[in-house]
Amino acid sequence: MRIAFAALVLIFATAQPNDLPVEQTKKNIKVLQGLPSSQLIPVMAFMSNSLGVTCAHCHTKAWESDEKPAKEVARTMMAMTRAINEQQFGGKLTVTCNTCHQGRVKPIATPDIANAGWNVRPGAPVKASVVAEDAISRFPKTSAEVKRRVVRGRVERYNGRDEPVSGPFTLTIDGNKTTYDTELSHPPEASRALAIYLLAPPGIEKLRGERWLIDGDLVARTRETPTPFGNLPDQIDYADYRNANGVRLPFRAQWSRADYRVTFTVTSIE
Ligand code: HEC
Ligand code: HEC
Repeated sequence: MRIAFAALVLIFATAQPNDLPVEQTKKNIKVLQGLPSSQLIPVMAFMSNSLGVTCAHCHTKAWESDEKPAKEVARTMMAMTRAINEQQFGGKLTVTCNTCHQGRVKPIATPDIANAGWNVRPGAPVKASVVAEDAISRFPKTSAEVKRRVVRGRVERYNGRDEPVSGPFTLTIDGNKTTYDTELSHPPEASRALAIYLLAPPGIEKLRGERWLIDGDLVARTRETPTPFGNLPDQIDYADYRNANGVRLPFRAQWSRADYRVTFTVTSIE
């Protein structure tokens, strides 16, 4: 797979021509009719994330099969969630799968005594993240002489259903031209984790809506992508910063979303 980075970054533009309604591209769609095909996987990932399950909770190897009872329950739940929002919240996407499920297959109906009003506990301190506009100046600086950078390593893909698989990758940045080579297929969005190795920080318009966590170095980036059922989060974590030819760069980058975890382990930066 050889893709120009410019094309990879295009995922930020959501509208796609020929984005047919999902019932025309898939075999067994009863509730999601009219949904653009490109939105199917984000919706599925959102539901999986809300319930704390992998795709295998509702699906067998044949995605269109209705063999698993949870799949049919999910259909009634989608209709119910839509009805609640229409009837109670003026059609605004207020109640989502996660409002009730909170990462569990079965929501808990009884409140926990630990949450009694007199039992006010300080939460764990939350590290403050910043908006992209404030993070951009913290991107790794590149000395003016560097015109070309080659990042090599291994990329691993894991979906929670099958064993992790991995293969080598090479990211080559040469002036304005960037290529990413790997035999391992993975969601193209994951390649966004490689943006930190570019010789210039991505334009602010590409980072809009993102939040960055800074702890000396850039350590994480979070983002939410809207779907018709709720916002789907994804995250990139950077670790193992080392000095690479005078520039401090991370030797580990991990992209996480409910459906996949993609880990880049860098072995050399030239
Ligand atoms: C909570 C249950 C649930 C989970 C978890 C789930 N799905 Fe689904 N999936 C459904 C339902 C329900 C449909 C059918 C929607 C309809 O009838 O409109 C569907 C349909 C699909 C289809 C279309 C199949 C066809 O040809 O008709 C695909 C592909 C799919 N899901 C992929 C995934 C992937 C990938 C994941 C994991 C990221 C996932 N699903 C997780 C419930 C689920
Ligand atoms: C208003 C609260 C609420 C919302 C919103 C909600 N659920 Fe549920 N869901 C429940 C409850 C309660 C149960 C358990 C019902 C039971 O115990 O029989 C459940 C059960 C389920 C189950 C069956 C669990 C199993 O054993 O496999 C699935 C699948 C499911 N929900 C999917 C979804 C999806 C997908 C969404 C969003 C489209 C959603 N739910 C939104 C309350 C909710």
